[in-house]
Amino acid sequence: MGSSDTASNVAVPRHVAIIMDGNGRWAQRRFMPRVEGHRRGAQTVRRITEAAARSGVGYLTLFAFSSENWRRPADEVGALMSLFAVALKREALNLRDNGIQLRVAGELSRFSPEIQDGIRECEQMTANGRNMVLTVCANYGGRWDILSAMRSILSERPDIAKNPECITESMISEHLAFNWAPEVDLMIRTGGEQRISNFILWQAAYAELYTSSVLWPDFGPEELQKALNWYAGRERRFGMTGEQIQAQKLGSK
Ligand code: FPP
Repeated sequence: MGSSDTASNVAVPRHVAIIMDGNGRWAQRRFMPRVEGHRRGAQTVRRITEAAARSGVGYLTLFAFSSENWRRPADEVGALMSLFAVALKREALNLRDNGIQLRVAGELSRFSPEIQDGIRECEQMTANGRNMVLTVCANYGGRWDILSAMRSILSERPDIAKNPECITESMISEHLAFNWAPEVDLMIRTGGEQRISNFILWQAAYAELYTSSVLWPDFGPEELQKALNWYAGRERRFGMTGEQIQAQKLGSK
C-alpha cells in the first residue's frame, strides 16, 4: 500500500480513480430516459478500461454506485443494478483475455444474491490478470470505508480502545475496502462538477484532481489521454516545496 507516500513524479499515474458523472444529463439532452445514459455509460466503462490498460495505468478504480445512490428513483436504481449484473456476465471473458483483474469494493450485502454471485464469479475468473486491476466501487462511500476500517481494527484488537496511540496510518490503510491498491495518483471527475462526493477519501489524500466538462458517455480514450497528459505535467510535492522537489530530481540523476 502507498506508492505515493514519497515524492515521485512519474509520467503515468499508477492508480487512476474516476467519478463517472453526467449519464443522466447526457440522456436528458437527447430527450431519452436517464437509464439510456447509464447504458451508454456502461459502454464507456469498457472503452476507458481498455484505454487505461493500454496506457500503462496499473490500477483503475471506478465509482459505479455510491452509498447515497439508493436515494434515486426505484426504477433508476433497478436499471443500474441490472446493468451491473449484465456487465459482470458479459465482460468477464473480455477482462480475462485482456489480463485485467476485476475487484469490487463496497458494502455488497445490500445487493441481490444474483449480483453477489456474479461479482464472485467475475473476480475468480479474472484473478490471474496481471495487466491492470479494475476496481468497481459499488455501494461504496469514503466515510463508510474509514468507519468500517476503524470498526474492524477495534474488533480485532479491542486493547487498542485503551491505547489509541497504537493506531497507525498503515493499520487503517490495511483495513480499507480496497487495500490491494496503492494510493490514488490521479482522480478524474467527468460531467463538469468539482466535488469528491464521498468517493475515495483516505487513499486520495495526495491525488491530483482533474475535472472534465465532458459527460461520462462521451468521455472517450482521447479525453482520458488529455487527463494523463495533464497529470504528466503536474509537480507532486507531498507537502514539500517546489525547490525541494527540484533538488530531489537533480539528486536522482
Ligand atoms: C452518474 O451519472 C453515474 C452513476 C450514478 C452511475 C454510473 C454507472 C455506470 C456508468 C453504468 C454501470 C457501471 C458499470 C461498472 C457497468 P448521473 O446519473 O449522476 O448523471 P447526472 O449528473 O447527469 O444526472
